[in-house]
Amino acid sequence: MTFAREVAPRRYPFAMVGLHWLRAVLVLGLIALGWWMTVLPDADPIKFALYPVHKQMGVTVFIIAVIALIVRGRSTYPGEPRGLSRWEATLSRMTHRALLVLTVIVPLTGYAMSSSYIDSDGVPFLFMALPELLPKSNAGFAVFQWLHRVLAYTLLGLALLHVIGALKHRLSDRGGETDVLERMT
Ligand code: HEM
Ligand code: HEM
Repeated sequence: MTFAREVAPRRYPFAMVGLHWLRAVLVLGLIALGWWMTVLPDADPIKFALYPVHKQMGVTVFIIAVIALIVRGRSTYPGEPRGLSRWEATLSRMTHRALLVLTVIVPLTGYAMSSSYIDSDGVPFLFMALPELLPKSNAGFAVFQWLHRVLAYTLLGLALLHVIGALKHRLSDRGGETDVLERMT
């Protein structure tokens, strides 16, 4: 009699790799765009042309983030690499989880901010306007604006930590167990 044994694959499946890089590019682009559009002076005509672009891209990231979570839940992917110290393994696991959660929550706070803003132009998506479900309120808007800013820059900080970790292991352990860049390509 033979026993089927689940062996963790050496690389992430194609769908997870594709979604990872698409999400990475869009998230980093959105942070740069969000920062740029908010520092432009109100008199600059480009400023308010950028807002709908940011909102549409943000809603797209939300959809991709939810799809990525579903695909992740149904996939078999490599486990933690051997050779990490206990604190490195914990930090990497917590960072991945925080990145997954924030990529869903940040767009929701953006939507909530737009939806509660009294003079909002709405949230455009695929040639239509999404329904604005929250009551209009200055106080609500201020809370969601603050949350959106703080959580978006927290996401940036964690993404930088994540990239530094990947590059550190590439440089110090090239081709070794902890050089995980290969398995996400
Ligand atoms: C992962 C998705 C998103 C990221 C990473 C992101 C990131 C950012 C960042 C970094 C800023 C600049 C904050 C500041 O410096 O004050 C910003 C501003 C803004 N975002 Fe997002 N955003 C996302 C999704 C969304 C969505 C889905 C919406 C609306 C539907 C949205 C609406 C806005 C608006 C209206 C502002 C300008 C706020 C202001 O004028 O103070 N964002 N975003
Ligand atoms: C552009 C720079 C980036 C690089 C070089 C990079 C690299 C990597 C590598 C090598 C892995 C595999 C780690 C392992 O197997 O232990 C990984 C996983 C992961 N990355 Fe990135 N990444 C980048 C940006 C991002 C961004 C911006 C996000 C989030 C928005 C992100 C979210 C994740 C998550 C959640 C995982 C864990 C895989 C999973 O469990 O779904 N990455 N990344």
